Amino acid sequence: MYQSTLDAPVNETTRVAQDDAVLNPNFYTTDFDAMDKVDVSLMRKEWDELIAEFRADPNKDHFKRNAEFDADFSHYSPQLKREFVDFLVSSVTAEFSGCILYAEIKKRVRNKDMRELFGFMSRDEGRHAGFINHTLNDFRVGVDLSFLTKAKKYRYFQPKFIYYATYLSEKIGYARYIHIYHNFAQRNPDKRFHPIFRWFENWCWDEFRHGEAFAVLMRSQPHTLRGVNKWWIKFFLNAVFTTMYVRDHARRPFFEAMGWDVDEFDRRVIRMTNDISKQVFPVVIDVDNERVWQLMERMHRNNQTLPALRRAGGIVNAVKEKLTLLDNGITFLKLLLTPGKENPLKPDFRSTPEAWLPDLRTPAPAAA
Ligand SMILES: [Fe+2]
Ligand SMILES: [Fe+2]
Repeated sequence: MYQSTLDAPVNETTRVAQDDAVLNPNFYTTDFDAMDKVDVSLMRKEWDELIAEFRADPNKDHFKRNAEFDADFSHYSPQLKREFVDFLVSSVTAEFSGCILYAEIKKRVRNKDMRELFGFMSRDEGRHAGFINHTLNDFRVGVDLSFLTKAKKYRYFQPKFIYYATYLSEKIGYARYIHIYHNFAQRNPDKRFHPIFRWFENWCWDEFRHGEAFAVLMRSQPHTLRGVNKWWIKFFLNAVFTTMYVRDHARRPFFEAMGWDVDEFDRRVIRMTNDISKQVFPVVIDVDNERVWQLMERMHRNNQTLPALRRAGGIVNAVKEKLTLLDNGITFLKLLLTPGKENPLKPDFRSTPEAWLPDLRTPAPAAA
């Protein structure tokens, strides 16, 4: 369909998006009967306020391109082009993954509250995915979203796991986009190499609101936030943060092109997401404990060695690869066993994106 100007042809790009490797954005399915039975009456007031925000649709006209997108981007170095396209492909896959999960929940349940919420969120994610895909098309690269719907493997998560994982991915999405936006607005305006970044501010208001929806949902189901579930919450916090850390650190040049030191970016974003999550999670990560960062760094370094081992082949390297993966498993377990911070939940928990604007003039958190 598209003539690719990258080394990889278009079907290769779709294949990359289709790759179900642990670190790539995944597609999810859940127990629709259980979702149908969710009763949010404990948080009725907060719920209705939130639905009214979704209905008002403040970003209705935001995702429209202007003449800036007609600029010539052929001056990009091959590396920047590759890194940027890679970033867009993983973003579009994540947006689209949310879009189809939310659309599927809306389609499969009769519960009015769930239908409304997931209908609105699917609308937003569809817009986000479409907007990114348009930019990919400018680079003559396309991700075939309808093909992905059929070809990607779907992971089954029971509803509470969908809540934890999706809440975190929405809030971390907000934290990433707002940091990127403010970096270009405050610190490095000369490094904004593509107009799409100017859309990130309003865009991340949507992601913040999606996170709020899961916060209200979980607060309306208090059993999801008690007992053994605190361990699951800690698991998801660590899994989401580590995945981001390892993926971003493998893309250091892309962050440098934006004017970011990847360590600083990840520390700021993880810290912010962890803080935001105190609105709903009774336990959070102790990000002041340097050991947490050291363990994530170890997994990143392990991951850096894997491609060379795979390329080299042979029994010795295959064993080394297995040992490295085992070490990653053990390191993640250590992360899980590192004490978290207890967080008594407050009755007034709703938040706004404006409350979390990053102040990039404050010194960066210390590097590991
Ligand atoms: Fe989105
Ligand atoms: Fe979202």
